Amino acid sequence: MQPFLPLAQPIFQTVGVIGGGAMGRGIAQMAVQAGSDVFLLDSQPGAAQAAIAAITAIWDRLVTKGKLTDEMRNLHLTRLSAAPDAAALAPCNLIIEAIVERIDIKQRLFSEIESLVAPGTVLATNTSSLSVTAIAANLQRPAQLAGFHFFNPVPLMRVVEVVAGLKTSPVVCEQLTGYARQFGHTPVAAQDTPGFIVNHAGRGYGTEALRVVSERIADFATVDRILRDQMGFKLGPFELMDLTALDVSHPVMESIYRQYFDEPRYRPSVITAQRLAGGVIGKKVGEGFYSYLEGAAQIPE
Ligand code: NAI
Repeated sequence: MQPFLPLAQPIFQTVGVIGGGAMGRGIAQMAVQAGSDVFLLDSQPGAAQAAIAAITAIWDRLVTKGKLTDEMRNLHLTRLSAAPDAAALAPCNLIIEAIVERIDIKQRLFSEIESLVAPGTVLATNTSSLSVTAIAANLQRPAQLAGFHFFNPVPLMRVVEVVAGLKTSPVVCEQLTGYARQFGHTPVAAQDTPGFIVNHAGRGYGTEALRVVSERIADFATVDRILRDQMGFKLGPFELMDLTALDVSHPVMESIYRQYFDEPRYRPSVITAQRLAGGVIGKKVGEGFYSYLEGAAQIPE
């Protein structure tokens, strides 16, 4: 399988991935598979190691299935390590940030990273909904920062948006576009608008489905069943929200709504606000629109 073959010359040889959560670990896995040396940094003690253990388990499963050789698995492992601190990312040619979706925290992180890395290092943010231009606003070299927006789960969702902020250098976008191809992904050029392409177009799928349920036109399982089985979507909108989890997707809904100056078309729903407040946020906690607790039916009939 092409994505598991190391390429002779990755566009970025040394890559720092910041944030070892759902997205960061998928991005780190793909970067190693593209032949890069990857340093994974997370602010939570033990989180980078946990992410590496999870990636290793994926490679182990691929070996068991005959999709990856032992030799290649071992080579991958030599290329993936936890960074003890931000200073360890100094030699990186590319930094990909996948931390919490908060502009102040992302801005602060990139200011720190910019002071540590070489001027030619490319800075990429995996933000779902924040402005790339605003994230770069306080940088000395805003031309070096672009959006590099993957989807969950990264190894399976093969599209990635390469987002140019107002000051992003076209060369940076070209490099990220080429690197996405080395992952085996399909890069799409996007402008720096709220939600970019996918999360903007996806408003119709998520917030409109929530309106259908809140207006009691149909229940969420029916909406999912129709869109999945009759309209050909891989997941219904509520299954998708369970997979993404509301702690990620509800703030994205709010952010896009606010950035469009409270445009009613994008208004988030009290249904998701309430569930988020109650911690009923999706598959990762065992309970969302559906129950994922042991013994519970996971997908509606
Ligand atoms: P997550 O909550 O699973 O992981 C975030 C990780 O970042 C955590 O391990 C946390 O300890 C770490 N972190 C937080 N602040 C940090 C800091 N200052 N320095 C180092 N590490 C820090 O989040 P997830 O889902 O991986 O999302 C990350 C980013 O990717 C967000 O910007 C999100 O909007 C975006 N995104 C998420 C998608 C999804 O479906 N989950 C899809 C596409 C983008």
